Amino acid sequence: MAHKFDVRSAEVLDSPDRKRFLDPDSVLDKIGLRKETIFVDLGCGTGYFSIPASFRVKKVYALDVQQEMLDILHGKIKKQGITNIETVLSEESSIPLPDGCADVLFMANVFHELEDRGSILEEGKRILSSGGRLVIIDWKKIEMDFGPPIEERLTAGEVIAICTDAGFKLREQSDAGPYNYLLIFGTANEKLV
Ligand SMILES: C[S@@+](CC[C@H](N)C(=O)[O-])C[C@H]1O[C@@H](n2cnc3c(N)ncnc32)[C@H](O)[C@@H]1O
Repeated sequence: MAHKFDVRSAEVLDSPDRKRFLDPDSVLDKIGLRKETIFVDLGCGTGYFSIPASFRVKKVYALDVQQEMLDILHGKIKKQGITNIETVLSEESSIPLPDGCADVLFMANVFHELEDRGSILEEGKRILSSGGRLVIIDWKKIEMDFGPPIEERLTAGEVIAICTDAGFKLREQSDAGPYNYLLIFGTANEKLV
């Protein structure tokens, strides 16, 4: 089973180098966020995506199973005076948010770390509003000198198969920079707009 990203390396998540290959604003541009969007960043880490998303949407729920990550994010929220991010300590196999509360469920470099993907996807369907989107960014399964070990990575095709089996429909597939793929799913019963 894949290991969790070690909070002792948290500064890697915020390193200026990271923007060169995974730029949060370019990624968020591709998702089509609106001022009224409720955005759930599951596995938010130190808020690399939560903070830029907060400037574009109504509310961000930033969830992580590691309280230490949320503490770091909370420090940034306070320092920057951000009022629309709520940090929530999450659970491995469930998402402690109400039914239908989210327009976007976003996971960046988290899916390969999940111990119980089936339960998280079921929870995703529960918390997404009708017409909501599941957005998954993860590492390409190719050899590189950084990121998780190759045996812990999933190909985009594997993620698509898992999410489709769980009842999501692939709507868009692209790259989120040279090392990561970006997948956008709708819920099976949504009305396409
Ligand atoms: C590699 S970090 C990525 C953090 C952030 N998304 C980013 O891109 O900077 C993965 C994060 O997912 C969290 N995580 C792993 N499994 C989780 C789960 N089941 N529910 C919520 N968070 C989880 C880890 O604790 C870790 O902070």
